[in-house]
Amino acid sequence: MPVRLKQFLILCLLFLAACGGRAEATPPPPTLSPQAQLGKQVFSRDCGACHSTTPDTIIVGPSLAGVATRAETRVDGLDAYTYLLTSVMQPDAYLVEGFDNLMPASLSKQLTGEELDNVIAYLQTLK
Ligand code: HEC
Repeated sequence: MPVRLKQFLILCLLFLAACGGRAEATPPPPTLSPQAQLGKQVFSRDCGACHSTTPDTIIVGPSLAGVATRAETRVDGLDAYTYLLTSVMQPDAYLVEGFDNLMPASLSKQLTGEELDNVIAYLQTLK
């Protein structure tokens, strides 16, 4: 086989391999806003010991998978944002059925205003 043809065939193979690889690549996960990203860090640090974000996974508290959607209808007259904020500021105000009042009320004092805003923004992405 002439050297030129060989080189051409090798180039074709490389090209195909490169395209094939790209076609199989999985799409990147949806990106969080910078605020929600910071809130996710607060969540890992201060909430993750008790709350999973995997559905139906109870640690100490309920899984928060889908909490943004549930929060819309948890309490009559409270929108999702207000419900989530109240859940952190005053954990005993509304208890999730089947759970005891084990969420520390001191959390609201530990978190800075900014951390609180960020963690609520993160919870609002859990639809
Ligand atoms: C020591 C364990 C513990 C920690 C730490 C904790 N929680 Fe909780 N949380 C609970 C328990 C238990 C419940 C269920 C009882 C209740 O409603 O208060 C709960 C309930 C909730 C609810 C209501 C969920 C629903 O489905 O209505 C939200 C929202 C929540 N927690 C958010 C947070 C956030 C945000 C943090 C961190 C800043 C946090 N929790 C830290 C134990 C914890």
